[in-house]
Amino acid sequence: MLVRLRAAAAAGEVADRVETHLVNLDGDWPAVIPASIDLAWAALSLHHVTRPVQVLRQVFEVLRPGGVLIVIEPSGATTYEPADLGTGSRDLGERLAGGLPAPGYQLAAEWMTALEAAGFSLIKRLEISFNASANTIDGARYLELQMTHNRAILVDDLCADDLAAIDAAISELAAGTFELGFTSSRDVWTAVRPASVEPILPDKRSVDQLVTTSTNSNEKETTQ
Ligand SMILES: C[S@@+](CC[C@H](N)C(=O)[O-])C[C@H]1O[C@@H](n2cnc3c(N)ncnc32)[C@H](O)[C@@H]1O
Repeated sequence: MLVRLRAAAAAGEVADRVETHLVNLDGDWPAVIPASIDLAWAALSLHHVTRPVQVLRQVFEVLRPGGVLIVIEPSGATTYEPADLGTGSRDLGERLAGGLPAPGYQLAAEWMTALEAAGFSLIKRLEISFNASANTIDGARYLELQMTHNRAILVDDLCADDLAAIDAAISELAAGTFELGFTSSRDVWTAVRPASVEPILPDKRSVDQLVTTSTNSNEKETTQ
């Protein structure tokens, strides 16, 4: 991933402005990144970490006041077309996608609570639809990798027939001979570290005047 990022930075002629750091988000990663950053972007990574609120709190701490966090996470049902992944094994796609939460691989989640707990405000959510198709080389590669990844997570939960059918589908994807579509959705969360607003206190003399004025007006009211 970082190699690709550096290559993209070089191609865009901004390599001298891009630093990469390989870190564990479950560790002390803020120690190696600059303080007071403007924007943090977490795409499809939060559901991998052990303590997401702690990671969000760390992001909060490294953002400058007014800085923005973008979180992109899967948000809903995932479907394959055809639903049997072309294998004749009824609803295999549903078992492949829907079985992920069972071994603890929670995909769709409500992140508002965690973002608020970490201190963020002005939190907004935008849901977008996500499609992939094996009609393109990139789409077929994406589906091949995604199914391989999910198969590994579910290897102890799926029966031998399902695993064999998934292997056959993966082989066809790799060979570029498989018509497969995939639809899911993503939530894009925007959250802001509130700018620290110092209370605007008047100087002491003004305060005294205010008190006096207030007292006077009270007296007036009382008098009237
Ligand atoms: C589904 S990929 C998303 C990659 C990329 N952000 C994107 O949107 O295409 C999940 C990424 O999270 C990274 N990841 C998972 N657990 C991590 C951890 N504890 N610390 C740092 N990165 C982690 C993986 O290395 C992988 O690159």
